[in-house]
Amino acid sequence: MPLDQTALLTELEPVVAANLDRHLSLAKEWFPHEYVPWSDGRTFDGILGGEPWHQGDSELPDVARTALIVNLLTEDNLPSYHHEIATLFGRDGAWGTWVHRWTAEEGRHGIAIRDYLTVSRAVDPVALERARMAHMQAGYANAHDDEVLHSVAYVAFQELATRISHRNTGRATGDPIAEQLLARVAADENLHMVFYRNLLGAAFDIEPNSAMRAVADVVAGFQMPGANIEGFGRKALSIALAGIYDLRQHRDEVLQPVLRQWNVWDRTGLDAEGEKAREQLATQMQDLETQAARFEEKREARRQRQATRG
Ligand SMILES: [Fe+2]
Ligand SMILES: [Fe+2]
Repeated sequence: MPLDQTALLTELEPVVAANLDRHLSLAKEWFPHEYVPWSDGRTFDGILGGEPWHQGDSELPDVARTALIVNLLTEDNLPSYHHEIATLFGRDGAWGTWVHRWTAEEGRHGIAIRDYLTVSRAVDPVALERARMAHMQAGYANAHDDEVLHSVAYVAFQELATRISHRNTGRATGDPIAEQLLARVAADENLHMVFYRNLLGAAFDIEPNSAMRAVADVVAGFQMPGANIEGFGRKALSIALAGIYDLRQHRDEVLQPVLRQWNVWDRTGLDAEGEKAREQLATQMQDLETQAARFEEKREARRQRQATRG
């Protein structure tokens, strides 16, 4: 009989404790205010009667602005994520210490990116605030919020996805200050990914069939946490066209390396259900390969059309 959710949490607690220690020994303290060029800032219109925002206030490319908005709104929904993991993982013991530590680290990301955007006037502050209100009021619920292994698998992939998205957004800005800030945020996301990846790795040793099922389900239904941002489809498309985050990166730089770390393809000792989950996962990865190749072809054709037009 597979372990129930409570027994799984208990069984994984020592792994959480060990990886929490590891995390704390590797995580570097950093200060968001150091990454923001405050003296570049100017008072806005409104209460203090400064200058209104104009598109031309910043030279950031449009797609970098779009990606920064998506990344920031995603970070902004932290209260919902905290609620999800605090409800599932609990607030006691090593699980609880991790939940609160992770939340505190994530809180820094939204602070830093918002301060940068406001000071550099890269995005319309009124539109940004309205988008934040709309996004947070919609809330966020993960699709498997009552299943420990599904949730851990999801966050392992999602932390790596945000790492890549932040890093590539930084490059797309062409601004060394933004790049430095987003590289710092990306380094945090990487440590978060390692924590969850190690946790699910341990779960694979305890409950290989349930872990394989969880991974197959999560890969099949994966959606970015910001997927319910207003206009996400359009924004995600321009982000993908710019190569900041596309299906190829999702498959080859997020899913595949983590799956390999869990040794999903060569793992032995699965029962019939576990094998079935692994087959579904393999099919899903094949489908993603086809879709990624198709997208790359279309993008290349589009580039050539644009080059011909001049
Ligand atoms: Fe973050
Ligand atoms: Fe993170």
